[in-house]
Amino acid sequence: MTTDAKTTYKPILTDGITGTILSGRTETLADYRAKGGYEGLRRALETMTPEQAIDMVKDANVRGRGGAGFPAGAKWSFIPKDRKKPHYVCVNADESEPGTFSNRPVLEQRPHLLIEGAAICAYATLAETVIIYIRKEYYDAHAQVRRAIDEAYAAGLLGRGVMGSDFNLDVIVQPGAGAYICGEETALIESLEGKRGYPRLRPPFPAIQGVYMCPTVINNVETLSIVAEIFRRGVEWFKSLGTEKSPGMTVYSISGCVAKPGNYELPLGVTMRELIYEYAGGIRDGNKFKAVFPGGSSVPMLFEDELDVVMDFDGPRKYGTFLGSTGIIVMDETVCMTWAAANLMHFYWDESCGQCTPCREGTNWMYKILKRLEAGQGRPGDVELLESIVKHIVGRSICALGEFATGSLARTIPRFRTEFQAHIDQQKCPFKKEYTVLK
Ligand SMILES: Cc1cc2nc3c(=O)[nH]c(=O)nc-3n(C[C@H](O)[C@H](O)[C@H](O)COP(=O)(O)O)c2cc1C
Ligand code: SF4
Repeated sequence: MTTDAKTTYKPILTDGITGTILSGRTETLADYRAKGGYEGLRRALETMTPEQAIDMVKDANVRGRGGAGFPAGAKWSFIPKDRKKPHYVCVNADESEPGTFSNRPVLEQRPHLLIEGAAICAYATLAETVIIYIRKEYYDAHAQVRRAIDEAYAAGLLGRGVMGSDFNLDVIVQPGAGAYICGEETALIESLEGKRGYPRLRPPFPAIQGVYMCPTVINNVETLSIVAEIFRRGVEWFKSLGTEKSPGMTVYSISGCVAKPGNYELPLGVTMRELIYEYAGGIRDGNKFKAVFPGGSSVPMLFEDELDVVMDFDGPRKYGTFLGSTGIIVMDETVCMTWAAANLMHFYWDESCGQCTPCREGTNWMYKILKRLEAGQGRPGDVELLESIVKHIVGRSICALGEFATGSLARTIPRFRTEFQAHIDQQKCPFKKEYTVLK
């Protein structure tokens, strides 16, 4: 990112709270309207057809911030243009990816920004119901979003005849079910329908058969909040930020072994080195950097010689990894990679919904191997066995969780093979610290 962009950018989605996780300040409807809030929705309702609203999102090249980077305008355009069935918009506020907490400040502090973006999406896709699925543990987010919805109804911004138009819109909040898998879009739909959060086989995709088998758009909190800003400030403004193929801004959540963990909202295009050393204050306690997850624990790690990667949608791909959820988890030289892998595998095994045998059994098997390596009971051939299991899970599961559980190991083992092997050769963890591996 250029020095100019660095110094001139003022956080918008997180409203100036970059660097700290929460400020405890929540925007009221009056605060939001004083900044031009809901003028983007007015612009859509008064000057655009639904198709033109979709074209605007396509022109801006908004890519989904939930993990896959799918173009939002294209997703919206897959929704049928008739109303043979009711249409729905689902806001994915499940935010359960390890190391990811960028939706939280928007939900807790700028709930109207999200409501406005979701309303624009509903108008563009002929939906009359928005369901905001918020992870159960975000108690304050639930309270603030509900409060903002009440304010919006009272001001005629939701309900029948939004802003005096013939567009009707209801917004509902649905608490999550405490399961990581319910952030996967089809498991989320099953969950909010009152069923067990099992991902569905696709096709059909939610745009055709989503909530109650009706056409549904699912977008992340940040994606829809960005849309609200674009309708207020314009496509050119959005494209003036970020890189050519990844316009706009994002909120990078940085945690782990850094001096200043927190959310850092910046234009896309900053490098990983800048994020760690300039924004997050560098590695804490004067230790050396070892590895980093660039987009939540579900994407492969980056290593020391890869830190100059540009953190937009394309940069991490050059190293076989992804921007993902922009949840950056930094590990320093004191972190044992076998211990880290064992703890993460415990998470994936625990969170696997169990529908697919390779994911259900494979995560359990890999966890057992990693746990015994860490406990000093590794057997010759265990490292190769891990690599073989990884190959048998990839591409053999209904949803991406199976690949999330293995993608990182596939890249980490070759890089730290000696370290993994040392657990077998020495029959102990070569790192002195007392680490706990979950039971
Ligand atoms: C196991 C799993 C968990 C996921 N968790 C989330 C989540 O917490 N939040 C989210 O927005 N997307 C999550 N996703 C991605 C969603 O399935 C979906 O792609 C996303 O909500 C689409 O929004 P976007 O296009 O705005 O990015 C998850 C995917 C998988 C496979
Ligand atoms: S890959 Fe895992 S989490 Fe996804 S559907 Fe299959 S068993 Fe469930």
